Amino acid sequence: MRGRSSPRPTQRLRDFHGIHSVAPQMFALFERLPRVALSEASVLIRGETGTGKELVARALHDLSARVKGPFQALNCATLTAELLASELFGHVRGAFTGAIRDRPGLFRQAHRGTIFLDEIAEMPLEIQARLLRVLQERSFTPLGGTDTVEVDVRVVSATHRSLREESREHRFREDLMYRVRVVPLFIPPLAERSGDVEALTWHFIDQHAAQGRRRIERVDRTVMDALLAYPWPGNVRELRNAIEYAHAIGEGPDYVLDDLTPELRGEPPPRVLPPPVPVPAATLVDAAERARIAEALQRSNGHKGEAARILGVARSTLWRRLRELRLA
Ligand SMILES: Nc1ncnc2c1ncn2[C@@H]1O[C@H](COP(=O)(O)OP(=O)(O)OP(=O)(O)O)[C@@H](O)[C@H]1O
Ligand SMILES: [Mg+2]
Repeated sequence: MRGRSSPRPTQRLRDFHGIHSVAPQMFALFERLPRVALSEASVLIRGETGTGKELVARALHDLSARVKGPFQALNCATLTAELLASELFGHVRGAFTGAIRDRPGLFRQAHRGTIFLDEIAEMPLEIQARLLRVLQERSFTPLGGTDTVEVDVRVVSATHRSLREESREHRFREDLMYRVRVVPLFIPPLAERSGDVEALTWHFIDQHAAQGRRRIERVDRTVMDALLAYPWPGNVRELRNAIEYAHAIGEGPDYVLDDLTPELRGEPPPRVLPPPVPVPAATLVDAAERARIAEALQRSNGHKGEAARILGVARSTLWRRLRELRLA
């Protein structure tokens, strides 16, 4: 059972090094990337989680003169200070307990290429001091070592926080901030990109169809309304997952409300603070569903079969929910 469907958008989806978009804000970024890539300047990419920071970092490498060199990525948020230091600068055998053999470190492995430091704001202060030295001197000494290693590495970093704010709070060195943020690039959140929610929904649907999974041919208007109303705290990654969910739990050519993730059906997303008076999630879901059912019944002049069609659910599902929500 389905309601009216939402037409496919007509704008042409651009594919810039795997970054898909129809939004002018993203096109402006695409215009800048080739020139920025060719400079040797350190780039800081700022954007919320899931906006495509790593894709941009890779595009910068691929468009640069270093394209034939290595691209080494490291997430600074996931390691302890000691492990991070050894990961970045390497160590010699015996430098600390457990260092059973020499390790070159990512800076050496990224020689003549690009190093991508993800979540750089989370880097412990002691590592920031070492990184600053590498950026100033283009050389470093591995942990426990005595010889200096010279490296030619372009640094691209990413953060979802403001480094200026972090430096004001003394969590990030100001001198390092100026070194890594010679060219700042900003990736807008998905919810602010005009046209991208619709365009990327179809893009991911088509990707699944090409893989021979469920072939969605129509998206219910109510589904698209829900997708457009949602704030997308997890940005493109979350949208991709939502479409993946529809393919995993639903079937048939119609993308209907039942195929939406719990968040999209009205449960508060995990990152939103709880309301001051705690309301059980189930109540919120019920309230959202009640409202949708009431609206469908109104539009169908009380005809339940038609209301089920508008909601995109089976008639029996609507019957059951009417009973469970005591709306019958
Ligand atoms: N514009 C886009 N088009 C297609 N896929 C995208 C786009 N933006 C992001 N993605 C996909 O979403 C996922 C998240 O992207 P990416 O890892 O680059 O984000 P991020 O900003 O680095 O996130 P995090 O801060 O969580 O590390 C990846 O699978 C990526 O391929
Ligand atoms: Mg990332």
